Parts: sequence; structure tokens; C-alpha cells
Amino acid sequence: MKLFLDTANIEHIREINQWGILSGVTTNPSLVAREGKSMRDCLMEIAEIVKGPISAEALSLDAEGMLREARELASIAENINIKIPMTPQGLRAVSILSKEGIKTNMTLVFSSNQALLAAAAGATFVSPFVGRLDDIGNWGMSVVEEIVDIFDTYNISTQLIAASLRHPMHVVQAARAGAHIATIPYEVMVQMVKHPLTDIGIERFLKDYEKIKDLPSTKQETK
Ligand code: G3P
Repeated sequence: MKLFLDTANIEHIREINQWGILSGVTTNPSLVAREGKSMRDCLMEIAEIVKGPISAEALSLDAEGMLREARELASIAENINIKIPMTPQGLRAVSILSKEGIKTNMTLVFSSNQALLAAAAGATFVSPFVGRLDDIGNWGMSVVEEIVDIFDTYNISTQLIAASLRHPMHVVQAARAGAHIATIPYEVMVQMVKHPLTDIGIERFLKDYEKIKDLPSTKQETK
């Protein structure tokens, strides 16, 4: 499972990119609004750092508007794909964009039927929102499991991005369900690294090494 960062924050992207584990970035209008920059500036800065796929969202509600925005956003960098909401107009836009070779990420997906439609329209990615289903008392991850199962059965090439992940166990569950990609908020990514036994282990090794670090070597160098 590839790991994407779900943020528009440049410092966070730069930091996680340095770990060497980052395969892409997803943004949405709410995440960009938090940064107080224009969508274009934000995407240009992200594209300077990230070479994998970057999702940028179209905001029009009609297909013509979506297409206009998509072509404009896609021209910012060759690795930008366009997030299009799951609506009849969105499906129309995705099917046209897929024929033009512009990559798309069908977003605000909450059911397997919506994912099937996105795939049939030629979406490159489909993003089921796990946390928002949990919020209304559903088991969000079951939708991811179902979509993976259906895509596998029919050899569908659309890639599933498990989105709206809120905690580290969501990432584990997405991986176990067979999601192709998990898009992860910065805070969750940082939590994933941590384990109290790792911290205790480092502390113990350093303390024990203190006991021998000044001992001289008695061995001759061999060539
Ligand atoms: O990119 C979609 C995802 O970020 C939404 O997450 O936490 O707002 O439901 P959330």
C-alpha cells in the first residue's frame, strides 16, 4: 500500500518527504483554505517537492466548469490529478477527462456503487471517505473492503485511495483490506512512527553504551 499525505501544508510535506516514504499528496479545498494561500500557489509549491501524484480539487458543480478547472489545474504540473465529486455531472467530467488523458480522483465516495460508477467512467483513483462514514455510525472501512473485493473480481485498474483516515488503526485496517493507497493526515503519519518501546529501547542502548564508550580498542588493524 502506497502512503500519501493528506495536507496542503508545505512544511509538513517537506518533513515527511524527507523520510523517503511519501508516494503522493492529496489536497481538498478545506485543507488549502487552512494555509491561507491561493490554490495555484499551493499546488505549485507542492509540485516542487513531490514527484508522485498530487490531487487538486475542482469546485464547479457543472461538467463544463469542472472540465475548465481540470484542464487549468492539470497544466500546473504533469503529476497533478483532478479531484471530482461523485455526482452525475462529475461522472460526465471524469469520462471526458479520462479520454483526454487527464488523471482524475473521484472524491466524496461513500458506497461501492459509487466506486463502480467512478471506475466505469475511467477514474484513475477513487476515494472512499472512511472517517466521515464512521462519524455517522457506519463502519467506514467495510466500504473499502467491498470496493477492493469488487475491483479484484473484475480486474479493474482504478486505484482505491482510503481517505478521511483519522487515526493509525485506520491505516492498518486500510492495508489489511488491500487499499492501493492510504492518504494520511500529518498528525497520524507522525503517530505511526511512535512506539513507547522504541523510545525505551533507544534510551537503554545509549545508557549501556555509556559504560564502554571510552574503553580503548586492544586489537591491531588488519588489512
Ligand atoms: O481528502 C479527503 C479527506 O481529507 C477528508 O478527511 O477528516 O475531513 O473527513 P476528513
